[in-house]
Amino acid sequence: MSIDNIVNSVNTTDSSLSVAGLTAFYGASQVLFGIDLEVGRGQCMALLGRNGAGKSTTMKAIAGIMPSIAKKISLEGNDIDGLPPYRIARAGLAFVPEDRQVFPEHSVEDNLTLAAKAGSALRHEGREDWTLDRIYHAFPLLLPLRTRLAGQLSGGEQQMLVIGRALMGNPTLLLLDEPSEGLAPVIVQQIAVQIGALRKAGTTILLAEQNMHFCLHVASHVAVIDKGRIVYCDSAQALRNNDEIKRRYLSV
Ligand SMILES: Nc1ncnc2c1ncn2[C@@H]1O[C@H](COP(=O)(O)OP(=O)(O)O)[C@@H](O)[C@H]1O
Ligand SMILES: [Mg+2]
Repeated sequence: MSIDNIVNSVNTTDSSLSVAGLTAFYGASQVLFGIDLEVGRGQCMALLGRNGAGKSTTMKAIAGIMPSIAKKISLEGNDIDGLPPYRIARAGLAFVPEDRQVFPEHSVEDNLTLAAKAGSALRHEGREDWTLDRIYHAFPLLLPLRTRLAGQLSGGEQQMLVIGRALMGNPTLLLLDEPSEGLAPVIVQQIAVQIGALRKAGTTILLAEQNMHFCLHVASHVAVIDKGRIVYCDSAQALRNNDEIKRRYLSV
């Protein structure tokens, strides 16, 4: 199927992301053992697990930036398994990796507008495009920083910028890898509020986290990953009440 068909095809599913039997290796060492995941449109699903459980590997495999084997990976009903990363991005997936890479020598605003150009091929019926105004409304702290060089921002500000930059490409699905990692609690709280607002605005999100408290504030659904396998999947509310799962897999 050509990329234009992928981008323009009519969707007949309420599933945003569907992953079945995802397996991945680093060299001879297997780290994912048949991951199944379904993220419905408009959901914020937390992929929760301890350090080393396989969260980043799962996201990199879905985004096509590391080799993997899967029975199926589809985005909005379109098969993206095996496509190169730029085509997966053009099909509507934005991946924000854990290392928060900004363009350090460019201003905040340039970081955002460069992404808008890259994402301008994506147009989705019935959805409002992200604009600079909408980004500054969603992340008000970025507005007074718009002429600042991105390399001079704090870790929390850079995290907001990379999420904003991803949104400027008008993705149908946003993959966020540990946005709270290494940030002060007050900043983590702000980012949680902003991700919660994105979810309320209808953005579909898959959020990798070790920090269960952060997740349970913002996620509608959770999948718990342990040693490369999904061991639990339910609503965030159900996990809140499940002390057994929290104790076994989430060190609480
Ligand atoms: N580049 C790599 N080379 C070899 N092993 C890796 C590499 N990256 C991660 N791993 C291993 O793969 C497993 C899953 O890692 P990862 O997906 O990064 O977990 P998480 O994001 O949940 O902390 C871990 O055992 C980790 O040590
Ligand atoms: Mg990780």
